[in-house]
Amino acid sequence: MRFHSILPLFLLPTLPLRFTIAHPSPVKRLNPNNSANADSQVLNFLLTLEHLERAFYLAAPQKYSAQGFVTAGYTISDYGRFRQMGVHEASHVEFLESSLAAARMDRVQPCVYSFLDNDPKLFVAASLMLENVVASAYNAALAYIKDKAYLAATASIFGVESRHASFVSAVPLASNPWNTAYETPLSMNQILTLISPYTQQCPASNAALLPASLQAFPQLTIDTHPTPSQSINLTFAPPAKPLSEAESLFVAWISGMGVVVTQVEGEGQLTTQVPADMADRGAVYVLVVRGSKDMSNLRMDDASTEAGPAFVVFPFGGDA
Ligand SMILES: *[C@@H]1O[C@H](CO)[C@@H](O)[C@H](O)[C@H]1NC(C)=O
Ligand SMILES: *[C@@H]1O[C@H](CO)[C@@H](O)[C@H](O)[C@H]1NC(C)=O
Repeated sequence: MRFHSILPLFLLPTLPLRFTIAHPSPVKRLNPNNSANADSQVLNFLLTLEHLERAFYLAAPQKYSAQGFVTAGYTISDYGRFRQMGVHEASHVEFLESSLAAARMDRVQPCVYSFLDNDPKLFVAASLMLENVVASAYNAALAYIKDKAYLAATASIFGVESRHASFVSAVPLASNPWNTAYETPLSMNQILTLISPYTQQCPASNAALLPASLQAFPQLTIDTHPTPSQSINLTFAPPAKPLSEAESLFVAWISGMGVVVTQVEGEGQLTTQVPADMADRGAVYVLVVRGSKDMSNLRMDDASTEAGPAFVVFPFGGDA
């Protein structure tokens, strides 16, 4: 059985902001009822992402020469643009750090990263994912920041991250310059899941500066360039809490501001049918959720999530 529909906006994941800070730590305690402190958790989350992006682009010139880029089929100009993106990310780090410092808020420190790319093509693919994911994080953050000055600054960075994502897709990859008519807001836990393969270890003091509920979901592994209307393998850890008789697993294909849902099928090797209407949507986030078999009250929120999101691309060229 297969079913898909565009679900309304209110089913989009919400950002989990529970502000209980349980464990003792040397850093400043935040009062969650103080909106300035809530803002600082969001800004520290964004700073976490900017630290990662800055490290990603700083590592690149040590791994790849301009000539290596050209040999891989890119241009000298592309190489220059990626260096410039690294300069932007470093500027974003400084900006967020100084904003937090000005508000007398503690700041998260950089983590130890493991970037898996070892050739220019994998570097460009990772950059495409990171830029889209970080744009989605800024998009979602706008709904949670209270201070208007932070809002304007966050929107200013959001715009540039979206331009980066657009550049990477349209120029070096000669593909879609945007995804749909909308960007895709993702929850902090979803963002963390997408970046966690790149993060090895973070300073222990970071956790108390971020939302206490922040936690990555189990990874979902699927083909990153799925073909619409075809069956695709899904690999993820079995749900920690077994499904009841009335429950089933579903795949949510989150694209722009819409969601298309398909059924998880098979035993042993789990599969699903890639929705036909994912064609030409560009970047799409794929989530495994649990819900009642009849799909009543099916939600894409963090509480319903079993694995993912995974980042996949349905590219389109000039003929779309
Ligand atoms: C925040 O406000 C809630 C509801 O008024 C209250 O129960 C809680 O104790 C407050 N938390 C802190 C840390 O002040
Ligand atoms: C899906 O998994 C099955 C069983 O492990 C395997 O035989 C098949 O080749 C896989 N299909 C793809 C497209 O990877």
